Amino acid sequence: MSNDFIPQMIPWFGDEEADAMDQYMRSGGFLMEFKKTQEFEQRIAEYTGAKHAIVVNNGTVSLSVAGIVCGLNAGDDVLIPNYTMIATPNSIKMIACNPVFVDVCKETLCMDLELAKKAITPKTKAIMFVNSNGRYPKEGIEEFVKFAKENNLALIEDSAQALGSFYPDGRHMGTVGDVGTFSFSVPKIISTGQGGALVTNDDELATKIRKLKDFGRSGGGSDIHDSIGWNFKFTDMQAVVGNEQMKKLPWRVERKKEILKRYVNNLAGVSQVSFFETDLKNTTPWFIDIMLSERRDELIEHLKENSVGSRVMYPPINEQECYNIAGTYPVSKSVGKQGLWLPSSGQLTDSEIDKVCNLIRGFYL
Ligand SMILES: Cc1ncc(COP(=O)(O)O)c(C=O)c1O
Repeated sequence: MSNDFIPQMIPWFGDEEADAMDQYMRSGGFLMEFKKTQEFEQRIAEYTGAKHAIVVNNGTVSLSVAGIVCGLNAGDDVLIPNYTMIATPNSIKMIACNPVFVDVCKETLCMDLELAKKAITPKTKAIMFVNSNGRYPKEGIEEFVKFAKENNLALIEDSAQALGSFYPDGRHMGTVGDVGTFSFSVPKIISTGQGGALVTNDDELATKIRKLKDFGRSGGGSDIHDSIGWNFKFTDMQAVVGNEQMKKLPWRVERKKEILKRYVNNLAGVSQVSFFETDLKNTTPWFIDIMLSERRDELIEHLKENSVGSRVMYPPINEQECYNIAGTYPVSKSVGKQGLWLPSSGQLTDSEIDKVCNLIRGFYL
């Protein structure tokens, strides 16, 4: 057995990205966003089936921009799952809105629809639905669409963890609500170092997004401004990498699914370990997430001593010091105590997965 460290996650770039970047840097390119970025946007639109894809500098900003174009104003409330990456609530704090936390379903870690229904007030203006690890709500996303329509709420899909994941009706995650967003930070299935994208089928929203990220320019390249905007632009350097990464997405999707299958098979019968419900026909697992009924911290140490990295899953957001909001959120609280991400990089070999699983089996059985 090799003693090489198996990290929880490692960057996933290769010669193709290096060669493309080398060629680009010698081609007299502008580096700032231009044709390579347009190509990257087109690839995302084609892959997801969205009418428009617009890239920005990161996934957090893509959510703030989604909130602005969906008409959120300072003081509005937005429903946010209490289990998510901190960027989801922080993105709307940036536009002076208030997150209202809703617990998630224990099977999927997606927002609990019944609890969301109880959480709305006249101040609620939007839902940020998070496709947790590429999963969809057990009621179907249509029920969230209906709930949003009936209550005049914008529906923003935070699909940062869901590129390559589809709803059972075949639509790509992120393309069903008013606006969907993605992140291309390094741990994601494709990465541009940093980066984010918004997708929408609404022409008017797409125009607003493009203006917002480009100083509010009235038209491409001019210095005439009929609205306020900022600079949330991408770069062609990132797009050069992104275009190569997009070519690899289809087989990466397959490999990610195989990795989860192997973990599930190998850990069958270890009663202390449970997996969330993952429909591998549609979901591409981004990270291998498990719940441990006992001794999580000891297991983390055991793995570390044997050269295996892992990472505790997100704590409940309401308990994070920066929010510190009282409330009863049993599912996200239990994930904070028992959830663990196992090594999840796409480059994991079968024998590395077997090594991790054998260590876990040996620890518990
Ligand atoms: C659910 C979710 N939303 C938003 C983000 C933020 O994306 P970024 O890191 O690109 O700002 C992340 C990043 O991991 C995420 O997992």
